[in-house]
Amino acid sequence: MKAIQIKKAGGPEVLELVDIIKPKPTKTEILIKVKAIGINRSDIITRNNFDSSSEDPLIPGLEVSGEIVEVGDSVIDKSVGDKVCALIASGGYAEFVAVESSHCLPVPDGVSIVDAASLPETVFTVWFNVFHLGKLQPREKLLIHGGTSGIGTMGLQMAKALGSIIYTTAGTDDKIDFLNKMNLGKVINYKKESFKEVLKEEKIDVILDMVGGDYTQKNLDILNTKGRLININGMKSLSVTINLNTIMSKNLILTGSFLKPQPAAVKTQIAKDVKNNIWPLFQTKQMHPIIYKTFPLDQAAEAHKLMESSEHIGKILLTID
Ligand SMILES: NC(=O)c1ccc[n+]([C@@H]2O[C@H](COP(=O)([O-])OP(=O)(O)OC[C@H]3O[C@@H](n4cnc5c(N)ncnc54)[C@H](OP(=O)(O)O)[C@@H]3O)[C@@H](O)[C@H]2O)c1
Repeated sequence: MKAIQIKKAGGPEVLELVDIIKPKPTKTEILIKVKAIGINRSDIITRNNFDSSSEDPLIPGLEVSGEIVEVGDSVIDKSVGDKVCALIASGGYAEFVAVESSHCLPVPDGVSIVDAASLPETVFTVWFNVFHLGKLQPREKLLIHGGTSGIGTMGLQMAKALGSIIYTTAGTDDKIDFLNKMNLGKVINYKKESFKEVLKEEKIDVILDMVGGDYTQKNLDILNTKGRLININGMKSLSVTINLNTIMSKNLILTGSFLKPQPAAVKTQIAKDVKNNIWPLFQTKQMHPIIYKTFPLDQAAEAHKLMESSEHIGKILLTID
């Protein structure tokens, strides 16, 4: 089968199209003939940080959609021919992917098989962080930084559909216009205004942040009593200085997570929660995937260049005919 491999760390040019043997599903896995693959910022980090001394090349890719072509012996709830999307730890940039059956969900009603590739990584991450760790409640106020990121566009829709009051930040006028047209809450152009100044009276209950650096103390400053700050990255800086008095005086909770290394059982539980709580929102049209551009698999390098430019809004996909 065709796949994209990384054999050494570097820029998009290290993404190499290769021919390799098709994987075989284990007893608890299914084999998916891949139709589309979601690109994530994490794929860029994986490519940049790949251990070039490693003997084993790596196939990147954390989420795929497609059709089941084989099921493991102990899989009883899925069949050949089912159209699915799945969360995987790596290996997505390929024509076939073997995946744990319980980390795989049906393509939601109302979503195309291609667009479904944009859902697992973002929806699972937002569910685990905002709703499980952050315990966001209906009518509470949620701020998501980077509102036009894959995470932002999906997280804002999820929180809005489940009844929260949403706020977000973005860095260009085009991005601000898009978020306003989508009616995705109060939007702040962080390059023109200080989000801390704009939101200082709002008493935000939960913040999902991937920026870190000097955002961290500002986030703590605008949180309500018993507020929760959740970090899923620190693109500005992972090392931060904060004033603990802010946490103590408002009983704040500071948390965060990485989805990829979570135990399989945790991902299985997230999949169940997502199927019950989020999947119906696609059928009722309260949510939809936001796809910026698709590229064929052999143009993975172009897709990475676009993501690194940060000009996209929503998700970038690879597709396989
Ligand atoms: N912990 C986890 O398990 C987990 C899982 C998934 C994603 N993540 C993280 O969540 C973030 C979003 O992921 P994604 O795949 O949705 O990314 P994405 O679509 O590429 O979006 C990233 C956006 O962040 C904004 N941004 C703010 N500061 C930035 C900076 N210093 N450098 C680059 N961009 C910056 C940019 O928008 P503006 O133009 O508005 O600044 C950019 O479009 C990433 O940091 C990713 O690593 C973490």
